Amino acid sequence: MLASLAFSLLGKRAISTSVFVRAHGCGIAKMEDFSLPAYNDRRGVPLPEIEFTTSLSLEQKSLKEKGKASRTALSSAEKVALYRIKFNETFAEMNKGSSEWKTVFGGALFFIGLAAFVVIWQRMYVFGPIPHTFTDEWKAMQTKRMLDMRVNPVQGFSDKWDYNKNEWKK
Ligand SMILES: *[C@@H]1O[C@H](CO)[C@@H](O)[C@H](O)[C@H]1NC(C)=O
Repeated sequence: MLASLAFSLLGKRAISTSVFVRAHGCGIAKMEDFSLPAYNDRRGVPLPEIEFTTSLSLEQKSLKEKGKASRTALSSAEKVALYRIKFNETFAEMNKGSSEWKTVFGGALFFIGLAAFVVIWQRMYVFGPIPHTFTDEWKAMQTKRMLDMRVNPVQGFSDKWDYNKNEWKK
């Protein structure tokens, strides 16, 4: 009994290990190396770790060589091209903002509306009738009983009741 249990555990373990090794092995080729520097457009970090364009075309390479000499010799189109090699978005483009909040807001409202239908359905099909303890007569009886029992006589419930005049204290 024990031996078969141990064997089945061992067997399962061996199988799961080999599955893990295989899954791990084929994952390696597609995996990105997150320890390498990465390009990010961030206003707080104006100089990203690496340039945006990693593989330059011949045209871009010669433009870079040209830019090393003197920037005044470049046309403004070439300056922009040089900028775009290094950066993806300009600060103006980053500051532009997006309308994504509308989607998020609308999505949130949609799901709140969906939840409202769930609540309505619960009121119709799940909840029973309102308990008799919620009626006004019952609550009056309960209040009377609480006063008779002198509930919280110092600073609480019964303290608010004037037992001599038989009314609530003003
Ligand atoms: C470059 O900018 C565009 C928008 O201008 C954006 O969609 C894209 O994700 C950015 N690429 C990177 C690598 O940041």
